Amino acid sequence: MIVPRPYNLIAELTYRCPLRCAYCSNPLDYAGVREGLDAKEWARVFRQAAELGVLHVGLTGGEPCVREDLAEIVAAAAEAELYIHLVTAGTHLDADGLDALVDAGLRSVQLSLQDVEPEPADRLAGGAFFERKLAFAAWVRARDLPLTLNVVLHRGNLERTRDAVELAARLGAHRVELANVQLHGWALRNREALLPGRAQLEAASQAVREARRDHPKLQIVFVLPDHFSDRPKPCMGGWGRKNAVVAPDGLVLPCHGARALPLEFWSAREHAFGVCWSDAPGMNAYRGETWMRDPCRTCPERERDFGGCRCQAFALAGDAAEADPACALAPAHDVVLAARRRADAAGEAPGLVYRGDR
Ligand code: SF4
Ligand code: FES
Repeated sequence: MIVPRPYNLIAELTYRCPLRCAYCSNPLDYAGVREGLDAKEWARVFRQAAELGVLHVGLTGGEPCVREDLAEIVAAAAEAELYIHLVTAGTHLDADGLDALVDAGLRSVQLSLQDVEPEPADRLAGGAFFERKLAFAAWVRARDLPLTLNVVLHRGNLERTRDAVELAARLGAHRVELANVQLHGWALRNREALLPGRAQLEAASQAVREARRDHPKLQIVFVLPDHFSDRPKPCMGGWGRKNAVVAPDGLVLPCHGARALPLEFWSAREHAFGVCWSDAPGMNAYRGETWMRDPCRTCPERERDFGGCRCQAFALAGDAAEADPACALAPAHDVVLAARRRADAAGEAPGLVYRGDR
């Protein structure tokens, strides 16, 4: 098999986080994962990734800013000539801390917001963070860094979709990602509380059309949740194809969720990054098309969506080699239809299970 070269590295520096969002995409057992790579080891991973063709690194977590060696890690990525993007909740750095990252080579920032109003935002995040996040956004823009605002949309806040765009415009963001919640990790536990009904989604889609008309310079990304689209998304641009995730313990993965699958991945602590990417059995399990069964095996869409999300197939159909149940042609699509029907019929959403709750 010809192994493609990754161009994007998602560096999960830690699973620690001061927030406890009920849709966190970190693994359910995140607390048991050691933080295995120090700044020097990250520097080696960045060098090896750059040699393989990686151009871009997203520093994420958990909350990457809880790492005291973050500026050293940023400097190492700059040394490897990677474009450095920080994905943060914006609650941990002060203005001097941000300056240190900019001096080290930080190029752009994505700030997550749980909502556009303080009360629901702080409730979902598990603490009084909203005002600090807005202050952080202002510091980012004052340093002329490109800012992306990421707002996770769900049953409890879709009605404020338009407000999210207005807030992004006021903050001077270049891009706003209206990210309909993906049902992975903690979010799958909270599916009944988070999954919106179709009428809510249609109203939000209309709000986005109007916002695009009114803010032509703001890049507005809005993607329907898998559960309502009848065709899956090309998760991560295909398994082991473009994007590599390096988890806090050094495991090289094709996506955030793959460590929950019964597959063998290798650690960048023990092998060169390129070897983990090319040769680990887990990385090759769903690369290309040879693993596909019907209906994907003969479907013309397979070159576009790569059969959808393996982690979703594992979580919902019990077999990662099945077609993603989000696809209307998938044998397990009934699971998604049933969830959709429940969401359409549901009254008040049930309470949330927060990250860290058992
Ligand atoms: Fe994609 Fe497979 Fe569905 Fe075809 S059958 S659209 S390849 S998930
Ligand atoms: Fe793992 Fe989609 S999240 S393949």
